[in-house]
Amino acid sequence: MANQLRVGLIGTGRIGQVHAKSVVSHPDTVLHRVSDVFLEGAQQTAQEYGGEATGNPDELFSAGDLDLIIIASPTTTHIDLIEKAIDAGIPALCEKPIDLDIAAVDRLREKANATTVPIGLGFNRRFDPHFAAVRSRVLAGDIGNLEQLLITSRDPAPASTEYLAVSGGIFRDMTIHDFDMARYFVPEIVSVTAQGFNQFSSDIKGLGDYDATAVALRGSNDELVLITNSRHASYGFDQRVEAFGSEGMLRAENITDTNVQHYTANLVEAKPPYQNFFLERYMDSYRNELEEFIKRIRGEASNTPTFEDGRMALVLANAATESAQTGTTISVSAR
Ligand SMILES: NC(=O)c1ccc[n+]([C@@H]2O[C@H](COP(=O)([O-])OP(=O)(O)OC[C@H]3O[C@@H](n4cnc5c(N)ncnc54)[C@H](O)[C@@H]3O)[C@@H](O)[C@H]2O)c1
Repeated sequence: MANQLRVGLIGTGRIGQVHAKSVVSHPDTVLHRVSDVFLEGAQQTAQEYGGEATGNPDELFSAGDLDLIIIASPTTTHIDLIEKAIDAGIPALCEKPIDLDIAAVDRLREKANATTVPIGLGFNRRFDPHFAAVRSRVLAGDIGNLEQLLITSRDPAPASTEYLAVSGGIFRDMTIHDFDMARYFVPEIVSVTAQGFNQFSSDIKGLGDYDATAVALRGSNDELVLITNSRHASYGFDQRVEAFGSEGMLRAENITDTNVQHYTANLVEAKPPYQNFFLERYMDSYRNELEEFIKRIRGEASNTPTFEDGRMALVLANAATESAQTGTTISVSAR
């Protein structure tokens, strides 16, 4: 189609594959260029989904034929690539987090906020249809005033120790999604109280990190947001949101591949485990995330998280880390 947006993809690892799939399944986008420093990865992805492969991501910024770049390379590359996209005038959708270092984020902050080039952050969970429906109904007043938001997020199993060693810790690596979800419902957070726990993994403890967390956030209207995380869950990827208000409650439960229940002499209401991990559970959200960013490129109203949203998620993650380490509540209103 003549009016399709030509997309350049940087990084063809786990999440790069998801984005490639979203691009080819969207009628308004086509995968035009694919890059990965691991050239074979770029070539395989281009072969499967289309586009020209290169081992040099810089070629995407100078080619002059891209309408949108998706940054799906490791976190340490994000700041640099966002800046290149701004300089080249190409809209960029960048995976979360922007960076693990707030000083690095702040060096680009002014430029990122001043530019007219659309920059989006990949907090895909905003676009999960179930969580989005809870939020729309909260905004529509279905539960009166929002008083409490409960976010449960448990991974099926910890990532490798090598990954965890450079992940920035559980609050910056895992809870960061939940901080963005919290801000989606309660845009202004004023304080963070967090605790970290070492319940099952001596490897994670050895890294000075936690395998479970509890975070309480206070909103500017005195809303309470409670986040609980674990790095493991024997029954699958556990992702739930509950909004409690003055006139009721809205809840988004976990998803299984089937709603058929199994009854025997030993069990009732049994269903298969929850969808295994983010690739399955959030596939719709990644497609919707792209759709939402296309709206931003076209100048339409869009909920795509901004650079500033990405920065605030990191501010909250840093505050949670500090709170867990010092046993104090951290004020974030002026940060
Ligand atoms: N939104 C989500 O649900 C979600 C899920 C997973 C990962 N992520 C984020 O996505 C990013 C990538 O994670 P992943 O799990 O896909 O990692 P990965 O290691 O599976 O893939 C990263 C790919 O980028 C390539 N690469 C490395 N340096 C590069 C560079 N300078 N230019 C181009 N390519 C380069 C690597 O060769 C690799 O193929 C991380 O920032 C991570 O936090 C987000």
